Amino acid sequence: MKFFLDTANLEQIRTAQDMGIIDGVTTNPSLMAREGITGEKNILDHYTRICEIVDGDVSAEVISTRFEGMIAEGEKLASLHKQIVVKIPVISEGIKAIKHLAKKGIRTNCTLIFNAGQALLAAKAGASYVSPFIGRLDDTGQDGMELIYQIVHIFDQYDIETEIIAASIRNNNHILRCMEAGADVATCPLSAITGLLNHPLTDAGLEKFLADHKKLNK
Ligand code: E4P
Repeated sequence: MKFFLDTANLEQIRTAQDMGIIDGVTTNPSLMAREGITGEKNILDHYTRICEIVDGDVSAEVISTRFEGMIAEGEKLASLHKQIVVKIPVISEGIKAIKHLAKKGIRTNCTLIFNAGQALLAAKAGASYVSPFIGRLDDTGQDGMELIYQIVHIFDQYDIETEIIAASIRNNNHILRCMEAGADVATCPLSAITGLLNHPLTDAGLEKFLADHKKLNK
């Protein structure tokens, strides 16, 4: 399973890239706004900077909700860098835009997926990735992981090549369960990925090793 970092924060992207633990980045308009990036030029420059830091795909989301606007934005985003994947919401105009962009060889990530039917239609239109949101489903009392299992099963059954990005991940347990389910990618906050390193016995063991060394090496 690949790991994408779900952020527009350049420092976090550099940290994760230097650790060698990520295969790409996903952003969305809320994450861009969190970094204070506004205005078309600054937004486009920021996507280019992300591509220059990370080795791998970088999802950049369109703002338009109309077909013509989405394809104009999508073509502009895709021309920025070969690593850019155009992120498009799973609405009917979006499905049409995915089809159009796929025909032109532009890769897309269909976002805001909350049921398997949406994932299926995005894949049929030619999306390179679909992004089902686990955490936001959990927030409504449903089981987000169940959706990942269902989409993995359907895509396997019919040899659908679209990759599944498990999104809206809140913790390291979500990541491990996505690996069990067979998701292609998990896009996560940095804290959820580095959380995989944590174990109290590791901390206690290291403390003891260093204390024993110190006793004999004063
Ligand atoms: C990624 O593609 C999604 O935009 C992101 O994972 C959403 O996460 P959130 O539900 O924590 O905002």
